[in-house]
Amino acid sequence: MRKKLVAGNWKMHGSLAENAALLAAIKPALVGIDAVVCVPFPYLAQAQAVLSGSSITWGAQNLSDQPKGAYTGETSASMLLDFGCRYVIVGHSERRSLYGETDAQVASKYVAAQAAGLTPILCVGETLAERESGVTEAVVSRQLDAVIQAAGVATLAQAIVAYEPVWAIGTGKTASPEQAQAVHAFIRSKIAALDATIANGLVIQYGGSVKASNAAELMAQPDIDGGLIGGASLVADEFIAICRAAAKHE
Ligand code: 13P
Repeated sequence: MRKKLVAGNWKMHGSLAENAALLAAIKPALVGIDAVVCVPFPYLAQAQAVLSGSSITWGAQNLSDQPKGAYTGETSASMLLDFGCRYVIVGHSERRSLYGETDAQVASKYVAAQAAGLTPILCVGETLAERESGVTEAVVSRQLDAVIQAAGVATLAQAIVAYEPVWAIGTGKTASPEQAQAVHAFIRSKIAALDATIANGLVIQYGGSVKASNAAELMAQPDIDGGLIGGASLVADEFIAICRAAAKHE
């Protein structure tokens, strides 16, 4: 049986003082529950210092697809490893829509992350216009295919997929458990057509306005294996409740 795994994506939020308070609250509350926080680059050292030895691991929200060199402003996978990162988000919809990341660039970041031993959290998901025009599965397929073609389906054994419908991110509008389950099942069946064992073991997180109040019914779905949490990951009580709801459905 797959484990459920909840990851917080802090996005561009936080300060040393705010993070200290948040981490101090979640660390003792999540003893024995695996969870992840993906923090802004400058706070990786803080996450490492506070969370080392706990059941909470940490990661970044982006990385360069290049190992080193004249790439001003970029951060490599090996730099993330220096700060104890285990995970890195790739292809978040905000990276795709605001910074123009293409499917091909996302795939090369995925490859760079795995080459360094990091576990990529690969985000996929459709916009509202795409859902309304009935191309949700085609969009998610295209995003997955770019990675499968670049890296091979077997590499999904060392990756997490996060289904994040763009229309549900930060909008307060969550996909219903049935809507989310349907796309998760589609993703798993698509991978299963290539490799049933990989598909069965693949952790597929749901992201998009997950809160303490809706976590239980989402986490109860058979193909929802955890969550990627934005706004609610910044509120200790919310994040703790979501992680506990996921653990309950393992
Ligand atoms: P919200 O939980 O704020 O909707 O954000 C979801 C998300 O983008 C996580 O990566």
